[in-house]
Amino acid sequence: MIAAVGENLELGYKNQLLCHLPVDLKHFKEITSGHAVMMGDRTWESLPKKPLPNRRNIVITLDDISFPDCETVHSIEDALALVQDEEEAFVMGGATMYRLFLPYADKLYLTRIASAFTADVYFPAINEGEWTLTDSEFVPKDEKNQFDLYFQTLIRK
Ligand SMILES: NC(=O)c1ccc[n+]([C@@H]2O[C@H](COP(=O)([O-])OP(=O)(O)OC[C@H]3O[C@@H](n4cnc5c(N)ncnc54)[C@H](OP(=O)(O)O)[C@@H]3O)[C@@H](O)[C@H]2O)c1
Repeated sequence: MIAAVGENLELGYKNQLLCHLPVDLKHFKEITSGHAVMMGDRTWESLPKKPLPNRRNIVITLDDISFPDCETVHSIEDALALVQDEEEAFVMGGATMYRLFLPYADKLYLTRIASAFTADVYFPAINEGEWTLTDSEFVPKDEKNQFDLYFQTLIRK
């Protein structure tokens, strides 16, 4: 799973991200390009209404609808079945999907933004004992990125 979270595991507010961080968008693109990305339909709605380029876009909804130029599925199990032959496939949100997929996840790419935010959705609590932090890169704020952050990788023990 790949997510950007605030100090209190905040994820978003009013179906938008917490803040605009170009350095994190670049990081997200580098990690996910060439792979499948799975997302809930509210996260799809928060994007510019077209699939993320160079990725297999899979949208998950309970509704009997399909999304343009994406693969649409109606359950977590169906999403996982679609990506079973992929070397690496990503859950890219939102909060509902992170909660539902967490038991299946074996790797977390977390951007930890060094700030608290007003939020209405949160990443699920992570049981630290179940995960090993294998990478943590500090990226200081600059003129284009308003907050210090850490790019962290956690692998399930
Ligand atoms: N910080 C980050 O890295 C990050 C990343 C992504 C998103 N976000 C934020 O997260 C927020 C959106 O999160 P969210 O939780 O509201 O939405 P979401 O996870 O993107 O999508 C939720 C949708 O999934 C469907 N769903 C729910 N339970 C299901 C189930 N058991 N099986 C299949 N489908 C199911 C429902 O769609 P139907 O109603 O159509 O049935 C539900 O509306 C936004 O604020 C967004 O900006 C943050």
